[in-house]
Amino acid sequence: MNELKKNKNKGFFSSPIKLSSNHLLAIEGMEKSEIQKLIERADYFANLDRHTNTKVLQGYVVLNVFFENSTRTRVSFELAARRLGAEVINISLINSSIKKGESLLDTASTLNAMRPDLLIVRHPHSGAPLLFADYLNCSIINAGDGRHEHPTQALLDALTIKRRVGYLEGLKISICGDIANSRVARSNIHLLTTMGAEVRCVAPSTLMPSNLENLGVKCFSNMKMGIKDADVVMLLRLQNERMTGTENPSEREYFKFFGLDEAKLALANPNAVIMHPGPMNRGVEIASALADDTNRSLIKTQVEMGVAVRMSIIEALNHTKNNMMKN
Ligand code: NCD
Repeated sequence: MNELKKNKNKGFFSSPIKLSSNHLLAIEGMEKSEIQKLIERADYFANLDRHTNTKVLQGYVVLNVFFENSTRTRVSFELAARRLGAEVINISLINSSIKKGESLLDTASTLNAMRPDLLIVRHPHSGAPLLFADYLNCSIINAGDGRHEHPTQALLDALTIKRRVGYLEGLKISICGDIANSRVARSNIHLLTTMGAEVRCVAPSTLMPSNLENLGVKCFSNMKMGIKDADVVMLLRLQNERMTGTENPSEREYFKFFGLDEAKLALANPNAVIMHPGPMNRGVEIASALADDTNRSLIKTQVEMGVAVRMSIIEALNHTKNNMMKN
């Protein structure tokens, strides 16, 4: 018997989640209870044996549409959808239609004509997934749009922290690095402040967006002060591809002031854990030995939790659509 059906009545979080929207475009504006339910459901998936039959989405068609390079996010979405029994088609549009001059709206209408159930979109421009949501009939998941948001990354980060620490509320979480160019930082700021964590942003002043305090975080240009007593230290890559020039620091200088090494980590909570969304540049934002320190580094767990979180979201979007059609 299908494991998901068998567990249906065992408890609240072992049932699919109904969301308030047909899409997952951003964490900003999401209700705390909705975030909580998605994380709990993902935790349930993470606890299942990998061979458990979770194929409840037979016949469901997912298009993985990536206008930017990606390895872990694309594969993670594909695995999640396949574990749910969906059909997945990967479409890389990095060198294709846009180069041939097709507008984003024409690309959207072509994809729509293929009648998918779900489109997973990564795009270099902020707002592209929203545009797809406005023009297509299917559900849309934002897999990262420009500097705007990367909602599934924030959800998987939250699940990773919850499984290690047990809770999010009241935790001191320092997000360090190229905040200005990071959609991961923005989604995490929205999620973690909504969940009641104390969020600090640490960056050189050239990579710190102005007015960030308005989002309820504390900003530091001194890393030692920014990670003092932190429970979680989350590092970000220098996203050189999004920089316009002058803000680009030398890697050696950057590591000295903003790279996580033993000396700086000693200022954090003695049990502090280290996170990084990847791809990671060893010796730039993190000392190589710390990245591999399995007692403190949760980097591999983050990748593992990515699949569980994406299963929870894909299942929730299908459940939400089915419920909307019934009503
Ligand atoms: C991030 C992204 O693409 O925004 N990576 C990811 O999805 N795991 C972070 C980055 O590119 O540095």
